[in-house]
Amino acid sequence: MLFKKKSKLKNKTASTTPTTTSLDKAHIRTQPIPRHVAIILDGNGRWAQERGKPRMFGHQEGMINVKHVAAVASKMGIEAMTLYAFSTENWKRAADEVAFLMKLPIRFFDEFAPVLMELNIKMEIIGKKSELPKELQKAIMRIEEMTGGNTGMRLMIALNYGSQDEIISMVAQVATKVKTGQMNIDDITSTVIEDHLLTAGLPPVDLMIRTSGERRISNFLLWQIAYSELYFTDTAWPDFKEDALYEAVAEFQRRDRRFGGIK
Ligand code: IPE
Ligand code: IPE
Ligand code: MG
Repeated sequence: MLFKKKSKLKNKTASTTPTTTSLDKAHIRTQPIPRHVAIILDGNGRWAQERGKPRMFGHQEGMINVKHVAAVASKMGIEAMTLYAFSTENWKRAADEVAFLMKLPIRFFDEFAPVLMELNIKMEIIGKKSELPKELQKAIMRIEEMTGGNTGMRLMIALNYGSQDEIISMVAQVATKVKTGQMNIDDITSTVIEDHLLTAGLPPVDLMIRTSGERRISNFLLWQIAYSELYFTDTAWPDFKEDALYEAVAEFQRRDRRFGGIK
């Protein structure tokens, strides 16, 4: 039975494998595909305002684009994608915008769930979840539970996330272990640190993208981007579609990554 299943799969692969892949169409090579792509989803508000619309309209379009780009990334073979959707600093915004941004993911999770299941994507939320409204916390638990068994791309949504908070929490956890004798100071290595960050278990961030013109990191994945390739584009997040992701990956493939060595 197993053999039969295997040979069926083999035939299917052989008969459907095209001589050029969809990646070739977009002028990018099939390898190397970045294993982990992180994106600072910026420019929703300005995108809407440029169209004479309220900022919320931009956030809504941005949310639709998350579904689109996540599906493209998963089909491209990216193993993990981390999307910065709300920072620990974004609470400074007007109350109505914050309220809208706290409600938006609830609808987004419900609408996205069938697609996540179909594409075998596992969705997780990173950030200080306990400070989010209860209704949003429940929606997070639902989507994480529903997609928890999926084995394809890991889609991390950073909500109420701040890298400095994440580092403070990591230091506190490690310090507690030292204080209680579970660990010695000499045991603290970069692996130990990584194991106590919210990205524990994910591949290294190969590519970090920021949309909409700003050239800053805004408290996102500060430890994790030590050797990431950085890609900045003027395209606003709602306009960052399939071709834009392919272009970013093509640019990544043109980079010469030396990690301190010499080629
Ligand atoms: C990104 O778009 C979404 C969030 C930070 C919540 P912005 O809301 O920052 O849009 P701009 O940068 O003001 O245009
Ligand atoms: C960064 O964008 C945070 C998110 C995309 C969630 P911001 O728009 O908040 O960043 P600044 O204020 O321009 O640095
Ligand atoms: Mg912004």
